[in-house]
Amino acid sequence: VRIFVPRDAAALALGAERVAKVLASEIEARGLDATIVRNGSRGLHWLEPMVEVETPEGRIAYGPVKSSDVAGLLDAGLIEGGNHALCLGKTEELPFLKRQTRLTFARCGIIDPLSLADYRAHDGLKGLERAVTLAPADIVAHVTESGLRGRGGAGFPTGIKWKTVLETPGVRKYIVCNADEGDSGTFADRMIMEGDPFVLIEGMAIAGIATGATKGFVYIRSEYPHAIATMTEAVEIAHKAGVLGTSVLGSAHAFDIEIRAGAGAYVCGEETALLNSLEGKRGIVRAKPPLPAHKGLFDCPTVINNVISLASVPIIMDKGPIYYKDFGMGRSRGTIPIQIAGNVRHRGLYEVAFGLTLGEIVDDIGDGTASGRPVKAVQVGGPLGAYFPRALFDTPFDYEAFAAKDGLIGHAGIVVFDDTADMLKQARFAMEFCAVESCGKCTPCRIGSTRGVEVADKIAKGIEPEKNRELLADLCNTMKFGSLCALGGFTPYPVMSAMNHFPDDFSPAPIVEAAE
Ligand code: NAI
Ligand code: SF4
Repeated sequence: VRIFVPRDAAALALGAERVAKVLASEIEARGLDATIVRNGSRGLHWLEPMVEVETPEGRIAYGPVKSSDVAGLLDAGLIEGGNHALCLGKTEELPFLKRQTRLTFARCGIIDPLSLADYRAHDGLKGLERAVTLAPADIVAHVTESGLRGRGGAGFPTGIKWKTVLETPGVRKYIVCNADEGDSGTFADRMIMEGDPFVLIEGMAIAGIATGATKGFVYIRSEYPHAIATMTEAVEIAHKAGVLGTSVLGSAHAFDIEIRAGAGAYVCGEETALLNSLEGKRGIVRAKPPLPAHKGLFDCPTVINNVISLASVPIIMDKGPIYYKDFGMGRSRGTIPIQIAGNVRHRGLYEVAFGLTLGEIVDDIGDGTASGRPVKAVQVGGPLGAYFPRALFDTPFDYEAFAAKDGLIGHAGIVVFDDTADMLKQARFAMEFCAVESCGKCTPCRIGSTRGVEVADKIAKGIEPEKNRELLADLCNTMKFGSLCALGGFTPYPVMSAMNHFPDDFSPAPIVEAAE
């Protein structure tokens, strides 16, 4: 019997390591015929650590399991999928999982992340096997046809980016995977790297063959030590098995991958700062043009894609572009792994076709706030994303629909706030975050963010509120249109949305200084 205990960082943070250790010693002490598999997370974070048992009827889930629950679970017949207060029933029948369309995360939580055999047994490597038989331009055409857009946040068509690199001459070309996932409330990149690392390796190898690049780098933030360890081990395994190396799957294509760790700067998630960091320089933003596709890493043509963009390619190559394109709405094709976080009952990863409304995500899937109080605001797209009030809950999850309402999907992280949130404080936080993380290259961001904090403080103190609200809006306008990169350019989104949708929080009663 196989018992699954996640090795995902979220589950580990909630005690999964201890659960696995106690379970192993109990299995041995009781002489049971059971093996523990350390899988990725299924993404139901409020139930972590979620332990699963393989039975003839399918997997049975238990959670959240504490190490002190293990003996009782075994007494109740855990290895036969026995009943217990923590039993959640069949994993696949859990509503949060059943309603999803898992294409990119199809294997996450199901397979042993470091077993290439398990990966193959669950349709792994089929996309790469197909890619090695095709001409590079045909692979690029497949990806373009699928409608896949950059999942890092900007939504630029992946196929067009690859075409630019394919058609740009260069002695060397590179594939760089941006795994610097700095957005607050996001964890999709981490979950894939820890739960299904081979899908990213496969996607990168396909990108290499499609563009003529023979070397890839995965730039992972240092805050993700488990992802760094899992990816490093997976690359070694792939190398030994001939998935990577001088002859990818026995073909004439060579492709290799190196794992690199960042050092904690948010701005190193910006592609040109990331390239500088990879080159061993200070992580400062480069002006564009030239685009990295023309002149990127070490001045060579470079594809920089987010983890999820690359991890979505294998299924497109395997099942065909039309299969993928059939999901979604408008120009947002395929599926998107929405990361639900903050003050919400059902936190976790929910992969679904584009088009679900924000209200459905927060109220139905997230099941409202964890505090039980009314939802006040939802920040979509990380710390640089806009705050949406309930009045905008009919907005469908789609790049264009969010942009039309002065918001962004970004990396698809949503953070829920209840009615105790002070939106002026949140606006101040956005400015403060920008001031701390600014690379300092351009004035609107470097100086503007610090001035923004000061103006927000004046509003909070009731000092000339009308004049200072106008000043804050003017400052946001300068930052939005005058900044060199998205950090300074997008900080106005949380600030302006907070001010526009929650004006009452920006009109606090003046603080009367106590008389001496
Ligand atoms: P961008 O719009 O400048 O570029 C998007 C991508 O398309 C880049 O890789 C760019 O090099 C490429 N590109 C543009 N024109 C091209 C062409 N003609 N040929 C080939 N490639 C081309 O956006 P940027 O600054 O790269 O990203 C901003 C986004 O990043 C924001 O929307 C934000 O949501 C997101 N973001 C994500 C974070 C995360 O943790 N994932 C953190 C912070 C921001
Ligand atoms: Fe650097 Fe900020 Fe300018 Fe971006 S906007 S280049 S982070 S100073």
